[in-house]
Amino acid sequence: MKNIIDLTQQMLDRNYGLEIKQEFPEQYFIDRNCLFLGTRKLPDEYKDGIIPPEDEVNIYFPEDPTSNPLNMAIIEPTGTKKTRLLKNIVYGLKLLQSNVVVVQYKSRQWEYINEAGDGEFYHQYIHPRGVKRSDYIPSYIVDFEPVQDVIDEYKVYSPSIHTFKKDLDWKYLKASEVATSTLAGLVKRGVIELDKLKNQLNFEFKKKRLASSTKVSALRHLENLQNKNIFGYADIPFEVEWNEGNIIIISFFGQEDNIELNVFKLVEALTKIGINERTRNQVTRKVVVFDDPQNYIRANNFYSSLAVNNIQNMSREYGMNCIAAFQDPTEVKSTILNGFTTKIIGQIDSYDTIKGLPFEAKEILKNKDLYADRDNFIFEKLLIHNGKVERFFQYDCIVKHQR
Ligand SMILES: Nc1ncnc2c1ncn2[C@@H]1O[C@H](COP(=O)(O)OP(=O)(O)OP(=O)(O)O)[C@@H](O)[C@H]1O
Ligand SMILES: [Mg+2]
Repeated sequence: MKNIIDLTQQMLDRNYGLEIKQEFPEQYFIDRNCLFLGTRKLPDEYKDGIIPPEDEVNIYFPEDPTSNPLNMAIIEPTGTKKTRLLKNIVYGLKLLQSNVVVVQYKSRQWEYINEAGDGEFYHQYIHPRGVKRSDYIPSYIVDFEPVQDVIDEYKVYSPSIHTFKKDLDWKYLKASEVATSTLAGLVKRGVIELDKLKNQLNFEFKKKRLASSTKVSALRHLENLQNKNIFGYADIPFEVEWNEGNIIIISFFGQEDNIELNVFKLVEALTKIGINERTRNQVTRKVVVFDDPQNYIRANNFYSSLAVNNIQNMSREYGMNCIAAFQDPTEVKSTILNGFTTKIIGQIDSYDTIKGLPFEAKEILKNKDLYADRDNFIFEKLLIHNGKVERFFQYDCIVKHQR
């Protein structure tokens, strides 16, 4: 892992030709190993720009990425600056040498993060700066026809065929009912190239182990996949991107079924990295950020719920962490919601569906006691972490955000 100072310098060189000092102010947060969120008082109260340390609201974690996982849900209505907060958090995570993957749905909001921000309210030791990113889209999204400029901007990836061992995997790729189990069965037996799969189907048919209709249907499906270039690309080179100082953004523009499966495969791939790191005794903190996942992490989404659950359970061993920003807690499985041990909650009506909220937090939400100034986009929030409840006002955008 490269030194964050080098990376920041490289980034600034590339983007702006600016120079930073070796002792840049963010060192303050690095030394304390804390993720900065905001302040206890309104931004107005710090007009001199000085925020006393006791007014900072931070999340502290020790250096060992496996000893204090961060599994956090941000739950707040639309338009309350959740995405802005996430971007600041991602920036903070980079300072603390975490590896980040962001998953976003049907939007291009994260494209601006490699430019400096335009907010006004920061900690005196934080200066707005960009975060380097690398964008991916899955290649098997069928109903998304990207315009040329999008294709140029994104890298395309496909899941590896050898992971498609279950009937459901093929079902999600829209294989026919009869073809799914046949294809899954062949992959399970180690046939993991499209052409070899085709040969094997013909062979099985000749040996009368396969009905003609099944063969035809499976072959047609494979050809279809081949034409769409599915399995034609390597998986995302996570470690290469991270070592170059990038955060990885995965954008889904397409069908919900595919997203669910893709999220599952993504978590599988990260777990594999975690397992390898563990054998080398060099586990890193890997944070998957789901921005607005209500379209694909709902109570009835088996695969993606399982994926989030896996992250929550494997945090300690493999350094997996998860942050998800929801608008409404009622659509998410309650076990998933409970698995987020840290929560940031804004003024929501359905707070009762969140189990295990401290009494103090419930009272604040019940009494609608959080400060809100809609004209100036200021919304007070609660941080619930290690059983403690803290109110805070988030810093403004430290990295760029689309107006
Ligand atoms: N200081 C500001 N001045 C003007 N507009 C602002 C300001 N802060 C935020 N906004 C507007 O509020 C929008 C909401 O911010 P953001 O996208 O972070 O909210 P969100 O909670 O993620 O919303 P959603 O739930 O819809 O994803 C911004 O895109 C921007 O248009
Ligand atoms: Mg948002």
